[in-house]
Amino acid sequence: MNFAGKNILVVGGSSGIGLSLVKLLHGQHANSYVVCRSASAEWPEGVNYLKGDVAADIGAVEMFLPEQLHGLVYSVGSITLKPFNRLTDEDFLRDFQLNALGAARMIQQAIKPLKNAAGSSIVLISTVAARTGMPYHASIAAAKGAVEGLALTLAAELAFQQIRVNVVAPSLTDTPLAQGLLSTPEKREASARRHPLGKIGQPEDISQLIAFLLSDDSSWMTGQVIGVDGGLGKLKTS
Ligand SMILES: NC(=O)c1ccc[n+]([C@@H]2O[C@H](COP(=O)([O-])OP(=O)(O)OC[C@H]3O[C@@H](n4cnc5c(N)ncnc54)[C@H](OP(=O)(O)O)[C@@H]3O)[C@@H](O)[C@H]2O)c1
Repeated sequence: MNFAGKNILVVGGSSGIGLSLVKLLHGQHANSYVVCRSASAEWPEGVNYLKGDVAADIGAVEMFLPEQLHGLVYSVGSITLKPFNRLTDEDFLRDFQLNALGAARMIQQAIKPLKNAAGSSIVLISTVAARTGMPYHASIAAAKGAVEGLALTLAAELAFQQIRVNVVAPSLTDTPLAQGLLSTPEKREASARRHPLGKIGQPEDISQLIAFLLSDDSSWMTGQVIGVDGGLGKLKTS
């Protein structure tokens, strides 16, 4: 994969999967544009940064972006796990806003430079729980189901403009977002055991697939939802 001369926007590039992607893209000579609420000390030199909260109005995004944008990744999200009868309207609305509405608004603001690139790629992030029923995931699974629907619609709507749209759907991945689920050795071991491959994900497991979907190596792929989940979404091993 060679990203020399390519401009890539990573929304949520200061932590976890997004940060891993920014580092990987830097190693492949991409120009990274990052939007999130706080800068990261781990960023390589040369990252273009716009401070912004996707839950608020980030009107400056259009001014921030270059004339041509070759890729957009939306790596903002949440993990809200509660029994169904304890979920509030606020839980559902917040998950929808952060995961689905935020992605839609970012794409709207970036659509002109994405079109200008004459062959660009959008990657959104879902979860294994959107297609595999799991207790306590009602709010986040509903929001990520919306992300998948958004992606498929846009893949169809934007295909004639050579803009591809794909989704990666991870299972539990070792990032700051998941720390509540991985805070003790016992929790880590139990989570690893739930996966057919016997381990939880690392940010690089996800960012490498995202980089492939951004690159010209995947230039005939669009409208796909790809699991990166240690087998949890498809396999029954006991
Ligand atoms: N980790 C998992 O187990 C897992 C599993 C399935 C799916 N996912 C999905 O993978 C994606 C990345 O998650 P992650 O685990 O890498 O999370 P993470 O480590 O918490 O990173 C989230 C990123 O989003 C930014 N962000 C959060 N709220 C924001 C806001 N309101 N406005 C702007 N930026 C915001 C954060 O930066 P600031 O705080 O500086 O704004 C950070 O850069 C999410 O869509 C998540 O739902 C994760």
